[in-house]
Amino acid sequence: MLACVTLLATAAAAADGAGPQDPQIEALIARMTPEEKAGQLTLVAAALDHEPADAGRAPGAPTALERQLAEIREGRIGAVFNGVGARWARQLQRAAVEQSRLKIPLLIAADAIHGFRTIFPVPLAEAASFEPQLAERSARMTAREAAAAGVAWNLAPVVDVARDARWGRGVEGAGEDVLLNRRFAAARVRGYQGAALSDDDAVLATAKHFAAYGAAEGGLDYNTVELTERTLREVYLPPFRAALDVGALAVMAAFHDIAGLPMMVNRWLLTDVLRGEWAYRGIVVSDYAADHELVAHGVARDAREAVKLAFLAGVDVSMTSRLYQQHLPELLRSGEVPSARLDEAVRRMLTVKKKLGLFDAPYGRMSERRERERNHTAEARALAREVAQRSMVLLKNEGGLLPLHPGQRIALIGPFARQGHLNGPWTLFDDRRDAVSLEAGLRAALRDPALLTVVPGCEPESPIEGGIEAAVAAARAADVVLLAIGETESMTGEAQSRSEIVVPAPQQALAEAVAAAGKPVVVLLRTGRALALQGAVRGAQAILVTWFLGLETGNAVSDVLLGRVSPSGRLPVSFPQAPGQVPYYYARRNTGRPAAAGAFQEYTARYRGISARPLYPFGHGLTYSTIRYDSLELSPARLPWDEPLRLRARLTNTGTREVEEVVQLYLRDRVASLARPLRELKDFRKLALAPGRTAEVEFTLRREDLTFIGLDNRPVVEPGEFEVWVGPSAQEGLMQVFELVAQ
Ligand code: BGC
Repeated sequence: MLACVTLLATAAAAADGAGPQDPQIEALIARMTPEEKAGQLTLVAAALDHEPADAGRAPGAPTALERQLAEIREGRIGAVFNGVGARWARQLQRAAVEQSRLKIPLLIAADAIHGFRTIFPVPLAEAASFEPQLAERSARMTAREAAAAGVAWNLAPVVDVARDARWGRGVEGAGEDVLLNRRFAAARVRGYQGAALSDDDAVLATAKHFAAYGAAEGGLDYNTVELTERTLREVYLPPFRAALDVGALAVMAAFHDIAGLPMMVNRWLLTDVLRGEWAYRGIVVSDYAADHELVAHGVARDAREAVKLAFLAGVDVSMTSRLYQQHLPELLRSGEVPSARLDEAVRRMLTVKKKLGLFDAPYGRMSERRERERNHTAEARALAREVAQRSMVLLKNEGGLLPLHPGQRIALIGPFARQGHLNGPWTLFDDRRDAVSLEAGLRAALRDPALLTVVPGCEPESPIEGGIEAAVAAARAADVVLLAIGETESMTGEAQSRSEIVVPAPQQALAEAVAAAGKPVVVLLRTGRALALQGAVRGAQAILVTWFLGLETGNAVSDVLLGRVSPSGRLPVSFPQAPGQVPYYYARRNTGRPAAAGAFQEYTARYRGISARPLYPFGHGLTYSTIRYDSLELSPARLPWDEPLRLRARLTNTGTREVEEVVQLYLRDRVASLARPLRELKDFRKLALAPGRTAEVEFTLRREDLTFIGLDNRPVVEPGEFEVWVGPSAQEGLMQVFELVAQ
């Protein structure tokens, strides 16, 4: 009987998401007051020494930092984010583990989105490498640096599929494709969390922003999302699932509402799907004061009601608002929040702290020596350069303009030739003085730096007096123009939605004037999103997408321009023909009136005057060679229900340089109970190929790869005919048809 009861208790604990009970944690929960429990569920922004708020404080009154330390001692705070360094972290940890009643360690968090001290390319750029293993390595390096500074919890990765280029936060994720997002989500989680969470170089990963935050109407940040359960399950949830499948133990609930229900109160997603269907055991944290925002959404009358709704829906931890601290104890006493729910959330938080090794070694990550040793190592810089080299995408290269030839006179023109804007958004802990500009990188790389002339031409968003004239003169005197234009760092990232995804007007004017000088132009496009390229930018002889490449920008771009490295990145987002075409993504459905690729046809699905095809499709990117694809063979010719199908194709490097090709496998379900996308990426591989060499690439498809979310919102596979492509982008490739044979 006793065994039976124990079993039941264990089963109950497991069902609440915390796994078998841990005696240390249970003993703590038994001793905690409601205030201490609410404290554990409170994450606040770091109060730093000499905050501006301290300036007006009365003589002798405590500083913001002192007040925060006092709160930690009182057990009113469980976690703090975005502070600075091991010394600061130790100070806070001491207050928690030496001076608070229960001595529960504090959890230090940070937003290290694409690097900590060493800034790597923005996540969208990294996705363009089509090498998840690279993202795993940069995430590992980020974790090493962050963990040495006391951080145990990273508020990353962003795993939001983003299909509307107006939305500014697409820069933080892996673009428009489900598979790419899944693979990068998993890679980044593995990189952050390392071999074991308790290691002194591991940080907890957070899959965010749950869920479908990127589907904001009109691409407007924080906006409402209208979405069917089918699309949610097919497109937006899989990257979260991928992150959790490799062990992420934090999920962030997003700001927006889906069809009127804010994510913060979406019990179905936060509890039924996350805990029930997926058996997730980690914590759910709110986004920044998102509990309080329930009042603005109009679903809670006041802060107290907001807390009740969010907490009962499944949000365990509140970020920055302090509302849990203020209202949970009283909601418990009034009976509106059951004590079992409070204990469950606290149990999850303490379990995470335990897994991070914080109970055994609360100061384990807070070593100033290690912080110094791991700060900007040569290894980290080399990795930043490698990732940057492999993230650039060569959209166009007429007449083999790139790589540049030795001895060419170069005019480096544009607002990004000299200035900053190298790192992109979300870099809170870096030292910008270390970043290498395009000018510095090129000067260091050129055998004769006198061959380089640098002229800004304009500011990113305004003209400079005489700027265009100086730029045109420099272009005339050069053999080739490098035009460094695009977006500033502040045009992408949170709350940076753009209504027109174009190169800003003063830069477009510069491009037109420079093109008229008649010299070949290479556009170096700095951007955190797909842009609709127009006029002289679109018409340039060569276009290299350089995104925001981080610390090693100038060096990495020079490596590619001068041919030390062949570009090997591919677009993780489609580049549309015109700004008004967004949202544009390759995995669209056909419609009943698809527009033909060629001449304009009335009454088909296209905008007036523009092709229905993108300017550059998803997956597109050139190398410094040409690759021929041939002989796609399927074996067997039909896909059996329970056995795999092997696809083999031959690739030949028909050019003169060694390059790396991203071979992509796409699928289309010809006839199904629902209209299926024109193509869906099913696999990809980056392959090195020497000039003149032929290689065979092999992929495997199984029945599971043919799954989609059916009419009843459940996964289904339907027998029938499928088209499959092996090729260099979502618009090209060798095609074959096969049949999935019914069981
Ligand atoms: C963002 C989150 C971030 C948080 C804390 C919010 O505004 O949406 O992604 O983790 O701030 O910095």
